[in-house]
Amino acid sequence: MRICRTISEMQQACRELKRSTAQERGLGFVPTMGALHVGHLSLVAAARAECDAVVASIFVNPRQFGVGEDYEIYPREFEEDCRKLESAGVEILFAPTVDEMYRPGATTFVEVAGISDRLDGASRPGHFRGVATVVVKLFNIVGPDKAYFGQKDAAQVAVLRAMVRDLNFPVELIACTTAREDDGLAMSSRNRYLSAEERQRALVLSHALQAAKSLAKEKGSNAQMLREAMLQKLTAEPLLRIDYAAVVDADTLEPIEDLSNGALVALAAWFGKTRLIDNVLLEPV
Ligand code: PAJ
Repeated sequence: MRICRTISEMQQACRELKRSTAQERGLGFVPTMGALHVGHLSLVAAARAECDAVVASIFVNPRQFGVGEDYEIYPREFEEDCRKLESAGVEILFAPTVDEMYRPGATTFVEVAGISDRLDGASRPGHFRGVATVVVKLFNIVGPDKAYFGQKDAAQVAVLRAMVRDLNFPVELIACTTAREDDGLAMSSRNRYLSAEERQRALVLSHALQAAKSLAKEKGSNAQMLREAMLQKLTAEPLLRIDYAAVVDADTLEPIEDLSNGALVALAAWFGKTRLIDNVLLEPV
């Protein structure tokens, strides 16, 4: 696996890689912030299965972290991540420094208005502006045909889909299912912040989502009933502070009542200083 540290080196390496492949199934790209787990590697596996070649990035993007968030302590384990990506079959890894990605005085941002203020965007102002900006930069550097993201970050997927559509990026965005621990907890680089007790209690998130999913199958159920069922489970958990328990349209992230066209059921909650998110998609009925 080749590791590129500069933008110009990466642009050239990706151009060469594209030329060297059959160019039938395209170049796949998996952007990450590192501290890789099975969820990240499932995106690489999907890209491997569907593309001629796969490139990845590791960049802890300061612009998507708010003041007082975990940018400084975000886990960084570059050597181990490289080993994982290499054995997963990544051809090129882009791992720039912050100064390389953001030249001093850079003032251009990408703002996906409206949708960026919903769900996680509501509680993390500016977060999706930072995400959209870095993803556009990465797309311009890599030039992928297909880009892989986790459905675990459902609001991120919705924001980036809107961005790709609005700005006519020639990139197909592919959302992959959430990888979970055996007990159902959605895998996250932030799970390691949890104490043993918080880790156990965090199961309430996937349990609340499962309860909502079962309820949705019952005749006559609506979004409000799902929200209430989730809140009932979450409020019973003493160590947890609810951020949101939402039933929304998966594309616009706007609240819905009727479940017949499908829905995104999404949760965010704090366990001490750790904020966790999870969601399930309901199929149209
Ligand atoms: P990061 O949190 O490192 O996640 C990288 C990718 O892995 C994202 O698309 C995320 O949705 C996906 N992912 C995380 N946990 C997952 C799980 N349990 N199952 C499946 N996929 C999972 O998301 C980011 O980085 C950043 O915002 C980024 C897109 C790289 C821009 O900086």
